[in-house]
Amino acid sequence: MLEDLQKNFDRDLDGANSSRELQDLHTRYFGSKGVVKDLFRKLKDLPPEEKKQLGAAINPFSEAAQARLNEKRERVAADEARRKEARQLIDVTLPARTPRLGHLHPVTIVRREVEQIFRDMSYTIDPGPEIESDWYNFEALNFTPDHPARDTQDTFFVDVEKLLLRTHTSNVQIRAMERWKPPVKVLSAGRVFRRDEITMRRSPMFHQAEGFIVDRGIHIGHLRATLEHVVRKLFGPESKMRMRPSFFPFTEPSAEVDMSCVFCKGAGCGTCSQTGWMEILGCGMIHPQVLRNVGIDPEEWSGFAFGMGLDRVAMLKFDIPNIRTLFENDLRVLQQF
Ligand code: PHE
Repeated sequence: MLEDLQKNFDRDLDGANSSRELQDLHTRYFGSKGVVKDLFRKLKDLPPEEKKQLGAAINPFSEAAQARLNEKRERVAADEARRKEARQLIDVTLPARTPRLGHLHPVTIVRREVEQIFRDMSYTIDPGPEIESDWYNFEALNFTPDHPARDTQDTFFVDVEKLLLRTHTSNVQIRAMERWKPPVKVLSAGRVFRRDEITMRRSPMFHQAEGFIVDRGIHIGHLRATLEHVVRKLFGPESKMRMRPSFFPFTEPSAEVDMSCVFCKGAGCGTCSQTGWMEILGCGMIHPQVLRNVGIDPEEWSGFAFGMGLDRVAMLKFDIPNIRTLFENDLRVLQQF
């Protein structure tokens, strides 16, 4: 009888592999309605000889069995605890969930790049106001009230105190020269506004970077060298530029600078109006009258200035043939930068 019991117990203990199963096993064998208790009850119906034999054997069996059961319960419980802990640990080998980062707008990339080029030449970076008075945007820059050149900068007027949206960043020349005595070197980048039709190359809002310098003995060679440096930094050492004579009321002489069109490599296409070149900036030697307007003696000081179209530069640099692409905020475009 006990041999069967021993065999059954061995088999059951072997098959119980969780705390739960072991608990059940304990109840089944050693609980108040368990197999062992049952055996004791049956004892009294046995003949004396068998009763004695079995009676003496039950307790040692029971003790040994419970000892083995407890030993296994401890082992299984420790195992289970370890596995639970492992489940809660952070698996550092899992691939990281990277946060979705924003992108810099192509014009911002170019603006920062231009600012850095000039910072490296120890220019002061100075943003100016977008809403401006006639004086800073026009008159101090030598546009007399009826100057025909005003027509080339078709202006948005603000209905308050004769204010307007600046048509170029040249307003910063006047503001900076009022604030700082020469020698000065300033770069100012920002938005400008003109009542232009939207075309492949034009938009009523666009971006310029204005740079200028006033010091003793500044001449057009300094201007040319500075522009060549900037163009090579922006477009690489091989890039081609050309200077054409031009007119601005606030510079004399004046010039416009073109880059060879990157889209057609100079052959002529829709983006460059079939010319093979794209204008990227206007420049010149600061007009003596402009210096006088801010109380600087043109006999002692001279300077150059330029205004660069940042959108044009971004289009050339990043192969964007249509300026509208820059301002439609299409994520499929912006995510490429
Ligand atoms: N302000 C001029 C424009 O917007 C560019 C320019 C700047 C020309 C500085 C000469 C000197 O067209």
